[in-house]
Amino acid sequence: MIALSLAEIAEIVGGQTHDIPDQAATVSGPVVIDSRKVTPGCLFVAFAGERADGHDYAERAVEAGAALVLATRPVGVPAIVVDDVVAALGALSRAVVARLGATVVALTGSAGKTSTKDLIAQLLERKGPTVYPEGNLNNEIGLPLTALRATDETQHLVLEMGARYIGDIRYLTGLVPPRIGLVLNVGSAHIGEFGGKEQIAQAKGEMVESLPEDGVAVLNADDPLVRAMASRTKARVVLFGEGADADVRGENVHLTDDGRPAFRLHTPTGCSDVTMRLYGEHHVSNALAAAAVAHELGLSADEIAEALSDAGTLSRWRMEVTERPDGVTFVNDAYNANPESMKAALRALAAMGKGRRTWAVLGLMAELGGASLAEHDAVGRLAVRLNVSKLVAVGGREASWLQLGAYNEGSWGEESVHVSDAQAAVDLLRRELRPGDVVLVKASRSVGLEQVVTALLENATEGEVAGR
Ligand SMILES: Nc1ncnc2c1ncn2[C@@H]1O[C@H](COP(=O)(O)OP(=O)(O)OP(=O)(O)O)[C@@H](O)[C@H]1O
Ligand SMILES: [Mg+2]
Repeated sequence: MIALSLAEIAEIVGGQTHDIPDQAATVSGPVVIDSRKVTPGCLFVAFAGERADGHDYAERAVEAGAALVLATRPVGVPAIVVDDVVAALGALSRAVVARLGATVVALTGSAGKTSTKDLIAQLLERKGPTVYPEGNLNNEIGLPLTALRATDETQHLVLEMGARYIGDIRYLTGLVPPRIGLVLNVGSAHIGEFGGKEQIAQAKGEMVESLPEDGVAVLNADDPLVRAMASRTKARVVLFGEGADADVRGENVHLTDDGRPAFRLHTPTGCSDVTMRLYGEHHVSNALAAAAVAHELGLSADEIAEALSDAGTLSRWRMEVTERPDGVTFVNDAYNANPESMKAALRALAAMGKGRRTWAVLGLMAELGGASLAEHDAVGRLAVRLNVSKLVAVGGREASWLQLGAYNEGSWGEESVHVSDAQAAVDLLRRELRPGDVVLVKASRSVGLEQVVTALLENATEGEVAGR
């Protein structure tokens, strides 16, 4: 964090100082919420979580070098006490970013936020120092923690914004107002909580409502619900997509023989060819979105195309491809799943596995509410239509609907199977995998299906992780 005195911080967060011998002392280290990550001069934020209470670790944090603790009660060491630590952390991030000159880019969408954030970061880093979240820090805690890493040198601050409810994005854009706001897509993630796609569009559109007149709304021209958000913003609108009227568009989009997306990138100032290192056609949309942001920030079509062609996955378990020494290829996309990403991953598997035996090891897509049966059924059917050699549905009742869909689409006998849990899937794959097979593993986060890949890669130390 930029250096601030304890008195300044107390004023920003509206808190009371306790046990502070020197109000003029400054905090200049990182802001952390895990006492094990404390480094000298840092600010330790004490949260009362379900399992552990950060206040119990305050003393230890100060012993380890923390200059200050942000807490909801006095803790016997230098602290600023507030009613609400989350709100205080947010207020601090807002005040710090307001003092800096960084251009704030924020993005939201139902699927692909983290993947696109990683692409944007890899593009903008070519232009100047860029701060962006590690992994998936996209909520009211992760976003301020990321923003507080920005310094005077930071040219771009890229922020992922997630939403579970109407008002979530409004809150996050209120904390760190973006100048460039990107909406990727409106899918079915969290549809159970939201109630329907219209409500999801309502929530995601809060992004563009937050933008100033001199801001830029970057919208997906191929997604009608996103495109319609153009009417909800004062900012200039830039469209990306595959249609002819998109400002930044991909033409001749195709998958290379090994399943990598390739296309000709058109921008208002030039064209260039892209062949990505990432797998899966769903990355085309993410790449075009990132290209639109980068073009706004002054990168040429050639610079963008080169950076997109070089970009790897920065966050784990998203189409992470590993070759086992015996020639089995694993595609670990177990970070999360929803109907759109399941279908995109299956199509990537089909492209990568041409001429090889393909396995789709799939589990529950969570939070689909009343749409669950139809969506699981549709994914099972698509696996059959794409000619996936074998579908392994892993888990309880909802996962079994994957197999039911495959069965109803004409997959009889050995082509699809339902197993009760990850261990059963591992046992089955250990018995049946042969050199040359390609195995996709994917389910919602709560399933933790990456353990299947971990188990099957154990002792395979020679494995090469591609695309990272
Ligand atoms: N444009 C896209 N359309 C559909 N699916 C996508 C897209 N981009 C990525 N995915 C898939 O969606 C899953 C989640 O990707 P990613 O982590 O990038 O999304 P996210 O929006 O950040 O998710 P979360 O809401 O958990 O933060 C991955 O399994 C990935 O394969
Ligand atoms: Mg994410």
